[in-house]
Amino acid sequence: MNNIELNKIYNEDCLLTMKSMPNSFVDFIITSPPYDDIRNYNGYTFDFENIAKELFRILKEGGVMIWVVGDATINGSETGTSFKQALHFINLGFRLHDTMIYYKNNPMPQTGNRYHQHFEYMFCLSKGNPKVFNPITEPTKYNGLANMKNRGKEGVLIYDKVERTKEKKVGNVFFYSVGGGISTKDKIAYKHPAIFPEKLVRDQIITWSNEGDLVYDPFIGSGTTAKVAQLMNREWIGSEISKEYVEIAEARLENYILNDLFNTID
Ligand SMILES: C[S@@+](CC[C@H](N)C(=O)[O-])C[C@H]1O[C@@H](n2cnc3c(N)ncnc32)[C@H](O)[C@@H]1O
Repeated sequence: MNNIELNKIYNEDCLLTMKSMPNSFVDFIITSPPYDDIRNYNGYTFDFENIAKELFRILKEGGVMIWVVGDATINGSETGTSFKQALHFINLGFRLHDTMIYYKNNPMPQTGNRYHQHFEYMFCLSKGNPKVFNPITEPTKYNGLANMKNRGKEGVLIYDKVERTKEKKVGNVFFYSVGGGISTKDKIAYKHPAIFPEKLVRDQIITWSNEGDLVYDPFIGSGTTAKVAQLMNREWIGSEISKEYVEIAEARLENYILNDLFNTID
């Protein structure tokens, strides 16, 4: 235990990587798991319950995990897997700090008797109360009169503070355009079938971690989390079971890490 190297992708089941980590080791976790067998990632499977237990163990007190997930539609209905996973995390001791939404401005259109699927969940789960919160802000309209809502002891909504402010926290629905050339400018990343946008990772890393913190992605795929964490001066570790995807991630990261190329997140 605890001979784990930082800033490296481990080509193995994330359960094995986490075995080498002591309790309360990482500051922040962000990941998008292989859900509902929507895609067959080179045939690998995923032991959700044991992985969930390990994720709780290795996260520091006050640490946050962003779990990006959606449901498959089977026989015309959604599976509900996302909710089941969130409830399972609560049963393990995580707090469901916030159910955030990853809204896709330009999703794949769908047929059938349902509206287009525009979002995935970003379950924001914490171990205790989050110790870091660097909120993303936006300008207030009219140089800002902001009502701060609060719930009183009996749960009644009261308006207890009125402040003038130029900036306010953004809402918990985050909007991203996705797809070729947009989620990332790294062409090679699209050899992986399910990347998440670099901006999504950037926004969550900014919010829940500080420079020098350790970020873990147990399903790192094409290496998006590694790239963004590296460019944001965080330490990082990734696990990826498929050799093919690790090779894609390493080729993608070569410029950013080995050559220490200055770059920005697209
Ligand atoms: C949704 S993808 C993640 C994509 C990633 N967010 C990106 O931007 O490239 C999930 C990944 O988990 C990997 N995977 C599946 N089971 C795994 C396991 N037990 N341990 C580690 N990786 C696993 C799959 O091979 C796949 O690349």
